[in-house]
Amino acid sequence: MTFRERLRALPAFPRPGLPDLDTEAAPSSPHELFATWMDEAIDAGLLLPHAATLSTADAAGHVHARVLLLKDLTADGWWFASQSTSPKGRDLAANPHAAMTFLWPELGRQVKVTGSAASAGVDASRADFLARSDLSRAVGLVNHQSEPLSSMAEYERAFAEALRAVTADPELVAPDWTAYVLAPTEVEFWQAPDDGPHVRLLYRADADGWTTGLMWP
Ligand SMILES: Cc1cc2nc3c(=O)[nH]c(=O)nc-3n(C[C@H](O)[C@H](O)[C@H](O)COP(=O)(O)O)c2cc1C
Repeated sequence: MTFRERLRALPAFPRPGLPDLDTEAAPSSPHELFATWMDEAIDAGLLLPHAATLSTADAAGHVHARVLLLKDLTADGWWFASQSTSPKGRDLAANPHAAMTFLWPELGRQVKVTGSAASAGVDASRADFLARSDLSRAVGLVNHQSEPLSSMAEYERAFAEALRAVTADPELVAPDWTAYVLAPTEVEFWQAPDDGPHVRLLYRADADGWTTGLMWP
């Protein structure tokens, strides 16, 4: 079999018994439906249900994407955290438009959150950093994310120094660590059925809250 044949032989959604998306019974806000879907993904034991692809673009419109973890969901939006000095942080400083895409294949579900991402502020960023384990705080303190690295030994030296610093001072916060909130303008819920068409429900923000509509599969 060629590589192409192997790819094309793969089923799109191999599991029977996928859940339904009852669009008539959908809640009035996408936050509520997302929280339900996340609960179901966690209860189903999915690996990394809180992992999402964050897409950003720089001022010239060049798009960059990477996977990161959802940290919270509040009325303000979908939270994630990273270095403001990283490529994603630089993209967001130049152009706040961003999207987070979640995929829960075992449930036949995708959620696309599109909007504008900004820092949640110094206090929230500090709280996010201090809630991390010592090892994670050390990773965050090392910084230089995505810069060229001459050897793993160089990283290990920097990491060991950062670990010493965070264990010596439990209040130490990496200066560029930032909690971001993606405030959505649109959220799309996509459900694959056992058979039949995909169901797509779009929430769009307007002056009065949210309007919903179906999308062609
Ligand atoms: C499952 C998973 C979770 C990740 N979580 C985060 C995260 O929460 N924050 C983060 O900055 N990077 C996270 N990363 C690393 C990013 O994918 C990426 O490599 C890094 O942030 C640099 O991205 P950038 O160069 O586009 O800014 C995660 C990677 C994976 C695979």
